[in-house]
Amino acid sequence: MISSIFKSQSTLAQVRNSQVALRAYTKVLQKDTLSDNVKKAEYAVRGKIPLRGEEIQTDINKGNGAKYNFASTTSLNIGNPQAVGQGHITFNREVISSLINPALLNTNAISHDAKERALKYKKLLDTPMGAYTSNSKGYQYAREKIAEFIKKRDNVPHCDAKDIYITNGAGEGVKLVFNMLIRGQNDGIMIPIPQYPLYSALITLNGGTQIPYFLDEAQNWALDTSDVKKKITDAKKAGIDIRCIVIINPGNPTG
Ligand SMILES: Cc1ncc(COP(=O)(O)O)c(C=O)c1O
Repeated sequence: MISSIFKSQSTLAQVRNSQVALRAYTKVLQKDTLSDNVKKAEYAVRGKIPLRGEEIQTDINKGNGAKYNFASTTSLNIGNPQAVGQGHITFNREVISSLINPALLNTNAISHDAKERALKYKKLLDTPMGAYTSNSKGYQYAREKIAEFIKKRDNVPHCDAKDIYITNGAGEGVKLVFNMLIRGQNDGIMIPIPQYPLYSALITLNGGTQIPYFLDEAQNWALDTSDVKKKITDAKKAGIDIRCIVIINPGNPTG
């Protein structure tokens, strides 16, 4: 009896295995099945040049350095100041780490200044810092400080903390805004040329249209308002609804 149960079980397993072998598995996520917008999007910051740089550095590490007329490579595609010798940021990190791990406040691992600041924030934050603890827009206290800063910097009477959203970096904020603005290919986003490639990549990902305006190098990379006006007029004639203008000059990408 027992041996016949085993027999029937192993026969079942064999049948199942052969069915699995017959079924043709194809991966859901393949180059051909990717969203067209993803395939079209380009992000030079992580593109061909940095990839080639990595290849060269790997080659040098393998002992093939004699091929090149330099001893090592430095990644300048992303803004990591530590890659070019700048010291590490300590104060902000000490404050944040002791807010996340208050036991640090009782040690000598962090500076006196950082402890004082962490204790101040501990009292001011609505909930202790942990996981998923802040308001979705960010800590109220931090948003109030940002609103105050904007009022002072831009000399404007109103800037309300309830209108401030804190994101994990500029890129995430831009993504959020473009997701909301771009409804289809007739929605245009004006970006400066030269630009920072995040903007063109996100326009393509969202299926919108890029409306470039040009910065004038001879004029210290100034924006030419007549060029901007012409681009708006031309875009409107072509049926494009201009949804926003990206202003990141001066600063980036012109340095
Ligand atoms: C103009 C501009 N926008 C967006 C970003 C992306 O910023 P983050 O790394 O904070 O997402 C950068 C980064 O250098 C930038 O220079």
